[in-house]
Amino acid sequence: MSQKIAVLPGDGIGIEIVAEAARVLNHLKNDGLDIEMIEAPVGGAGYDAAGKPLPDETLALVKESDAILLGAVGGPQYEALPRELRPERGLLGLRSELGLFANLRPAILYPQLADASSLKPDVVAGLDIMIVRELTGGIYFGEPRGIREKANGEREGFNTLVYSESEVDRIARVAFDIAMKRGKRLCSVDKANVLEVSELWREVVIKAGSDYPQVELSHMYVDNAAMQLVKWPKQFDVMVTKNMFGDILSDAAAMLTGSIGMLPSASLDANSKGMYEPIHGSAPDIAGKGVANPLATILSVAMMLRYSLDYATLADKIEHAVGSVLDKGLRTPDIMAEGCREVGTVEMGEAVLGELSA
Ligand code: IPM
Ligand code: MG
Repeated sequence: MSQKIAVLPGDGIGIEIVAEAARVLNHLKNDGLDIEMIEAPVGGAGYDAAGKPLPDETLALVKESDAILLGAVGGPQYEALPRELRPERGLLGLRSELGLFANLRPAILYPQLADASSLKPDVVAGLDIMIVRELTGGIYFGEPRGIREKANGEREGFNTLVYSESEVDRIARVAFDIAMKRGKRLCSVDKANVLEVSELWREVVIKAGSDYPQVELSHMYVDNAAMQLVKWPKQFDVMVTKNMFGDILSDAAAMLTGSIGMLPSASLDANSKGMYEPIHGSAPDIAGKGVANPLATILSVAMMLRYSLDYATLADKIEHAVGSVLDKGLRTPDIMAEGCREVGTVEMGEAVLGELSA
């Protein structure tokens, strides 16, 4: 039976880059990929179409899909909306409604792009880190939360950072499993010197680790981890951390590669159903100009084929095609370098299709 993929372009450059990724998926039908794709609005587009960032029809579609391809959400025209109607709420709603608790954010430096990093080439050459970010708990979702008035009339804002043992255990196990398939080193990032929630986090991660004796487990405070990431990132193999720490560290890790336009991500539930999206945002400043880099989204399709749809061979094929396109010197403006040829979104997508046919 064919597998169903929900295609959610979202806002800004999401529309252009998802179109290229969808063409790649369509093309792979020639190689036996048995899928059906259905498009739906989310984020600002959801608000425009149905008055809310995660329309009911979109939610129904993603729930019955085997995998979701997402572009990006957000744009300046939506910033004045009340918080619950903002595009980001659509994204957070997808994560929580689908139970996508495990966010995999690789930071890989393509050898062809070594000069794109702002760090010295020897610090980042060959970089290959996987950040496993907890995505449906912690301070992003903790209750109580809000803005309230104190007795003296002054307002205060408050959020709750809370993790249960089972939430920590399941994300730790995802990270250990991934470490087993890679370099067998896992660094758990916390703030156990200050926060009780981190104290428990560390305890639970250590306990889960007893089932993974081959994985070398280490712990690092988040401030130090941020510093170590820019100092000597190659010391890391897999990192696992809470929702907000992961949000911050994964941006830093992505930038180590100098090409955030190249990095895919996966958000998985307990059954490996997943949502796949580029790490970068909707980039309203370049939206509609045909210059956005579609490769992160195309590489997200590769992750989808590997983690949710069980077509690892086709995933390899996409990753090879991207490598070949880079080898040939094709570059979108964000990764442009001397001696290369600058191309737009569509031309880059077509080049990948060309490699897939070769
Ligand atoms: C991310 C983004 C989101 C987050 C925003 C858009 C809500 O920064 O996916 O990293 O904070 O999780
Ligand atoms: Mg972020």
